[in-house]
Amino acid sequence: MEPVYDSSLESHLRRIEGYMRGCLLLTYPRERSALREELAAFILQEGPVAVEEWVALIGRAFNIPEWEWQGIRQGMNDALLRWSHHISNPEDIETYVYLRSHARRGFISQFSASRFLSGQMKLRHMVAERMRDKYAMQPEKLESLTALLQQEFQERLLHITDFFVEAREEDLREQEASYRKSIDNAPAVIFRLDYDVATVLDANIVAERLMGYRRDEMAGMRLWDLVPAQERARAQRLLHETKVRGHSDREDLHLQTRRGDLVPVFFNAGLIEYGHQRFFQIVCVDISDRKRLESQLIQSEKMAAIGQLAAGIAHEIRNPLAIIMNALYDLSEIVDTANPEVREDLQIAKDEMARVQEIINNLLEFSRESRAELERVDINDLLRKTLQLMHKSMQNADVRVITEFGLSAPCMANQNALRQIFLNLITNAVQAMPQGGELRVRTESLPDKRVRIAVSDTGQGIPEEHLKDIFNPFFTTKAPGQGTGLGLSVVHSVVRRFHGDISVRSKIGEGTSFTIELPCQCTEEADAAAFI
Ligand SMILES: Nc1ncnc2c1ncn2[C@@H]1O[C@H](COP(=O)(O)OP(=O)(O)OP(=O)(O)O)[C@@H](O)[C@H]1O
Ligand SMILES: [Mg+2]
Repeated sequence: MEPVYDSSLESHLRRIEGYMRGCLLLTYPRERSALREELAAFILQEGPVAVEEWVALIGRAFNIPEWEWQGIRQGMNDALLRWSHHISNPEDIETYVYLRSHARRGFISQFSASRFLSGQMKLRHMVAERMRDKYAMQPEKLESLTALLQQEFQERLLHITDFFVEAREEDLREQEASYRKSIDNAPAVIFRLDYDVATVLDANIVAERLMGYRRDEMAGMRLWDLVPAQERARAQRLLHETKVRGHSDREDLHLQTRRGDLVPVFFNAGLIEYGHQRFFQIVCVDISDRKRLESQLIQSEKMAAIGQLAAGIAHEIRNPLAIIMNALYDLSEIVDTANPEVREDLQIAKDEMARVQEIINNLLEFSRESRAELERVDINDLLRKTLQLMHKSMQNADVRVITEFGLSAPCMANQNALRQIFLNLITNAVQAMPQGGELRVRTESLPDKRVRIAVSDTGQGIPEEHLKDIFNPFFTTKAPGQGTGLGLSVVHSVVRRFHGDISVRSKIGEGTSFTIELPCQCTEEADAAAFI
């Protein structure tokens, strides 16, 4: 690799020249002179012989295998040539361009600076000895040549020392940058925590994004400030275990973001020690998706099992039911319907039979697998009709209705399925507001051919611990005879059948909001497709 020259070398040279001048080490000015020419010529002439002896000496001293000596010999002769050029013409700095680049990436960068410098010192020694022999008869010349050699050599040593330090600093900076990059780009939240007080020392970009805090805002927060209060003890145990065993992990912790959202994470903590420094490295992997999938899977498996059971039971009951119904009609023909008690009993029996029939229909709907036909449905209109249907009960309960219909075109959907969804959600909302309140029904179209329908009430709300159960069949909080607990499970299975999503938000005493998103091709497009 060819050494490169860059302008920072200039300032390097000037700096060292300044130190030498300041310390009165620069006796001979850095300009061409006869003395400089003579020293350069001497080094060129005697250098190779000195190098010959030198290679054998340092080769043994440093345990360098003999097959490498030739390369070292050649390298040193080239170096002396460049140095002699610099001595005769201080403007020629090629020797330092090479030295600098070799200290960074060349052969000599693999060893310690002291090893390299001791070799250089020995060579200067050998050259000086030869000089003493050659100029033995000219003591004055010998003195000035030796002094110039000493000056140039000292300059060389200072440069080499700085080059070595500079190269190591550069390595460190590169390592630091690549460490930083790999931490920042890791697909996980990473924190570095103080060993004694568990405060954040550093956090990566992913942590900033997920937590909603800047790095400098997190610095100084403790691990407990990043998890919800009720999980503090667990987080403390995680760190304690890490102190004892060197590492630890947990899956039952959450990170609490600036907005207060809880993100389920896999916490992996490690104790890192180097020198007398100790800290914790915490890697947190967001497992929300996995948790969501797991709970969806559990929910749909449960639904499928219950669906099969329900379908079986419903079919079994349907036949005896039909027989009882027939018998009831027969009875009403035969018995004395003039007797009001008998008439009333018969009516009660018929009404209750109708209710049983409805429950069975619900059960069958819940367990129905096949995809129903799509038709052109005006969702706004369907909602309006459903609300009209319930007008009376809403009026009795003092429920005010607010509609915000944002859908502009009819959709391709299944009318019966939608009606069932709306009826159930609106009935639940009305039932949740026995003292009256506000029912809000909203529709809007979303990108990617989806529609959103939201039914919200200002009723009693659903307790947190019930939220995971409300879609389960037969889960009800209503008095016997008032609710079978099938409404929401039917809604859930219908929504899933049409590849939609349902979500619920609720606050005790404030109300509940159910939001449904369904894929729904707008009929404008459907009509256009039919036209083609
Ligand atoms: N809007 C709401 N506000 C408060 N609680 C609700 C609301 N919707 C549903 N719930 C709760 O969820 C439970 C289950 O609802 P779901 O519709 O499945 O059954 P149900 O209304 O009890 O009976 P069914 O609908 O079969 O007559 C309810 O009993 C109630 O506790
Ligand atoms: Mg209901």
